[in-house]
Amino acid sequence: MISHYVLFLQLLFIPLALSLNHQPNCDLSTPAQGSTLKIFHIDSPCSPFKPKTPLSWEARVLQMLAEDQARLRYLSSLIAGKSNVPVASGRQILQTPTYIVQAMIGTPAQPLLVAMDTSSDFAWFPCTGCIGCPSSTAFSPAKSTTFKNVSCNSAQCKQVPNPTCGGSACAYNLTYGSSSLAGNLSQDTLRLAADPIPAFAFGCVRKVSGGGTVPPLQGLLGLGRGPLSLLSQSQPLYKSTFSYCLPSFRSLNFSGSLRLGPTAQPIRLKFTPLLRNPRRSSLYYVNLVGIRVGPKVVDLPPGALAFNPTTGAGTIIDSGTVFTRLVKPVYEAVRDEFRRRVKPRSAVVTSLGGFDTCYMTAIVAPTVTFMFAGVNMTLPEENMLIHSTAGSNTCLAMAAAPENVNSVVNVIANMQQQNHRVLVDVPNSRLGLAPARCS
Ligand SMILES: *[C@@H]1O[C@H](CO)[C@@H](O)[C@H](O)[C@H]1NC(C)=O
Ligand SMILES: *[C@@H]1O[C@H](CO)[C@@H](O)[C@H](O)[C@H]1NC(C)=O
Ligand SMILES: *[C@@H]1O[C@H](CO)[C@@H](O)[C@H](O)[C@H]1NC(C)=O
Ligand SMILES: *[C@@H]1O[C@H](CO)[C@@H](O)[C@H](O)[C@H]1NC(C)=O
Ligand SMILES: *[C@@H]1O[C@H](CO)[C@@H](O)[C@H](O)[C@H]1NC(C)=O
Repeated sequence: MISHYVLFLQLLFIPLALSLNHQPNCDLSTPAQGSTLKIFHIDSPCSPFKPKTPLSWEARVLQMLAEDQARLRYLSSLIAGKSNVPVASGRQILQTPTYIVQAMIGTPAQPLLVAMDTSSDFAWFPCTGCIGCPSSTAFSPAKSTTFKNVSCNSAQCKQVPNPTCGGSACAYNLTYGSSSLAGNLSQDTLRLAADPIPAFAFGCVRKVSGGGTVPPLQGLLGLGRGPLSLLSQSQPLYKSTFSYCLPSFRSLNFSGSLRLGPTAQPIRLKFTPLLRNPRRSSLYYVNLVGIRVGPKVVDLPPGALAFNPTTGAGTIIDSGTVFTRLVKPVYEAVRDEFRRRVKPRSAVVTSLGGFDTCYMTAIVAPTVTFMFAGVNMTLPEENMLIHSTAGSNTCLAMAAAPENVNSVVNVIANMQQQNHRVLVDVPNSRLGLAPARCS
């Protein structure tokens, strides 16, 4: 644990002056209050999922980039009306999630540490007896007095793409790539912090097959905006409003927070319109109108950032991608301007996996600002650069989106969002942003 932790610190480089000795507060047993959940990074000392085998800095960066590739494929697969829309795709469970929260399910409540995902709708938990599920920690329906099977002719069963009928119970089998995930649509009381959400519909996973290694996950909580999402199912309570603050990558001992519902949300935020794209209806789109590097607004090909409801093109805010991806012409223009403004001018550009703007010498980097309609988000250096041990390798932590026909989305990823409060306010169609200390 310690060695992995140390390696992760190397990856993200803690300036010594800032490494105050914060002990992690992993305690989740104290009674939760209100509607606020702690968010842990998957590599946090508090996470049971932190990798057991330490990786070198380069290996960890390459791994995160590879997982991002899978994430991008998942995001671009979320096309409305496609015959096999994944509710929670097989790919999704093959991917290491970045952030986890505690959910309590059943009566009496059974705790599970689940991935938080703003780009998935569905929630699923492994159920007792699951064949091929990655974790021995599973939800036991038999131990819950409030558990119900959802019947085939219920309205909710019709919202699961490709439902099948196992007996009279609603079942699904999702295939994605070489993996498949079979389960039943079930209902039980979900508790998040102090809030009970009765008759919450979720996937009770019974069988996972195919594919490669699956990480030891205890399930997934989708915060997307589709019909079976937490937002839709908790409408009277949370009114499709939540905010989150992702903990600093600099210290994994910090936890962030997920605050559900309109009460107690911060007010000093700047807002940009939240857009709904019918082509990818689960995702949170915003209007990115420009990108500034240093003082210069980068010249981009006309229409390169345009929101398009027909193709699904545009910009999304996502909690599950680690490094921001921009469509190729946009990324290249931003990268070129960035390279031009790096000091000293003699610094040699190298690459590392999918990162093509790295430096083996100390540099002074220009700022990067995402210009959203109504808000300019200037990235602090820790949200923009990754540094290896003692700063001997520094990379611009962004890359070009893969060039397949579906991947026309720009993804503002979690590293770029750390230490910001992000408020999703669906009723008022707006997204709030403000720099914040999360812990
Ligand atoms: C994080 O917590 C660990 C374990 O309690 C402690 O040893 C370490 O010093 C802490 N690190 C920081 C940066 O606060
Ligand atoms: C759900 O269905 C299974 C299989 O048909 C059955 O064994 C179980 O008792 C049912 N549970 C409830 C709570 O109805
Ligand atoms: C669950 O789904 C399977 C098919 O995948 C079906 O055979 C079984 O009866 C279902 N059971 C429950 C409890 O829903
Ligand atoms: C799901 O269905 C596919 C094809 O119908 C089958 O090959 C696969 O084994 C099923 N998966 C599970 C986990 O039942
Ligand atoms: C964002 O920055 C641009 C360019 O510097 C400026 O023109 C614009 O007014 C700023 N927008 C906001 C909302 O502050």
